[in-house]
Amino acid sequence: MLFQLIYRSKAKPNLTDKDLEDILETARNFNSSQNITGCLLYHKGLFLQLLEGDFNAVNQLYNGIRKDTRHSEVITLHMQEAPDRIYNDWSMAFKELKENLATLEKNGAASFKELPSQNNTSPLAQELFNLMSKEVMND
Ligand SMILES: Cc1cc2nc3c(=O)[nH]c(=O)nc-3n(C[C@H](O)[C@H](O)[C@H](O)COP(=O)(O)O)c2cc1C
Repeated sequence: MLFQLIYRSKAKPNLTDKDLEDILETARNFNSSQNITGCLLYHKGLFLQLLEGDFNAVNQLYNGIRKDTRHSEVITLHMQEAPDRIYNDWSMAFKELKENLATLEKNGAASFKELPSQNNTSPLAQELFNLMSKEVMND
């Protein structure tokens, strides 16, 4: 069963390009080995990440990611079964959004609230992600 998870987090204040490179290298190696795909978006100190794959694999990875000290205030925005992958060909696509692509900010990703436990999806988060995915894929 294919499972998709979206979260947002705040990068540590002094995050460097090297930190980002390290994260992506680890992610691409590990995710390929676990058949996990997804996309990591970064904009002005905020991360938004989509992870997709087997339920257990995604959850195990997410538990590890949550403990990573390179970011904090990890908030789950979306977790649901899905019929298809969005990022078939990407163990972890990456995009740093520049001013003209400030969708993340405009849509208030910094002020997203953790999902109430009875809900497992946030329409806003999903919409936002779909929007940004298109920008990443058209690049
Ligand atoms: C924003 C962010 C996204 C990350 N995404 C992934 C990912 O997709 N896959 C991955 O294996 N590690 C990812 N990591 C790194 C993990 O948090 C962690 O460093 C890695 O799983 C190795 O964990 P370990 O050192 O405990 O083995 C991410 C870290 C951050 C801060």
